Amino acid sequence: MSRIGLIGTGHIAAPIARLMASKGHDIHVTSRNAQISEALKAELGVGVGTPQEVIDASDIVFLCLRPQIAAEVLQPLTFRAGQQIVSVMAAVSENQLATLCAPASEFVQTIPLGFLQTGGCPLAAYGNSDLLAGLFEPQNPVVKVVDEAALNAHFAICAMVPGILDLMATGAEWLAGQTGDKVGAEFYTTQLMSGFLATMPKGQAGELAKERDALATEGTLSLQMTDTLQSEGAHDALRTALTVISKRLEA
Ligand SMILES: NC(=O)c1ccc[n+]([C@@H]2O[C@H](COP(=O)([O-])OP(=O)(O)OC[C@H]3O[C@@H](n4cnc5c(N)ncnc54)[C@H](OP(=O)(O)O)[C@@H]3O)[C@@H](O)[C@H]2O)c1
Repeated sequence: MSRIGLIGTGHIAAPIARLMASKGHDIHVTSRNAQISEALKAELGVGVGTPQEVIDASDIVFLCLRPQIAAEVLQPLTFRAGQQIVSVMAAVSENQLATLCAPASEFVQTIPLGFLQTGGCPLAAYGNSDLLAGLFEPQNPVVKVVDEAALNAHFAICAMVPGILDLMATGAEWLAGQTGDKVGAEFYTTQLMSGFLATMPKGQAGELAKERDALATEGTLSLQMTDTLQSEGAHDALRTALTVISKRLEA
């Protein structure tokens, strides 16, 4: 059992707190946002305090603030040597963390999504990946990356999730236009993709292309779809978005 603190009790801190509490850890969260921190207190019995009180009560500190306020919030706080820091903040670099959290010097940067609470969320990890594995595996697999550029590239792929959802929403809307059944169209589209992905083999390079090629054979509707998306520039648009996002994170 570890003493875990979360600074910034918002959208991503709440599922982390719930998962960590379910594993028996002792949890402290910052009072702001009061609606979420009070709900976590009522539901899980977490401690609620100021950022400094949370740091003082914790051996592992999750930094879950919006990047633009991170320096302003963290600068006045006092960390301890030996404290382990998990940052989930995009675009706050290792150097900035080292300055803001000194004398603490053990860091891991990662990219959780809210569904980690129920498991199956891959956690790209730059830094102390063993700390993350100890906390989140086996439910959420840790994917170690070698440097911050690689971490930023994983952040860009995470942004692909809403991008793909948006494409799926367009597909579901188109289907509803044909059938007049919005609910059925959204269910069918979502279940089709999630069911397919759930059974797909993972962990080998080339599986995505193999599955695609197994469907998109000569003369099929599937091949017409993949060819049209290529020729109409969907893949170029995706590559552009990924590059622009990772460059923004480097800035
Ligand atoms: N959401 C995701 O799925 C996700 C995924 C991966 C990484 N991240 C990263 O996680 C970080 C937080 O994102 P989020 O979506 O969870 O944002 P969020 O919901 O806005 O959470 C941030 C929390 O920090 C609180 N806060 C603001 N000022 C504070 C202060 N001075 N002291 C203590 N707490 C303060 C905010 O309170 P108020 O609401 O009262 O302002 C808010 O509840 C970001 O860096 C983001 O890049 C998020």
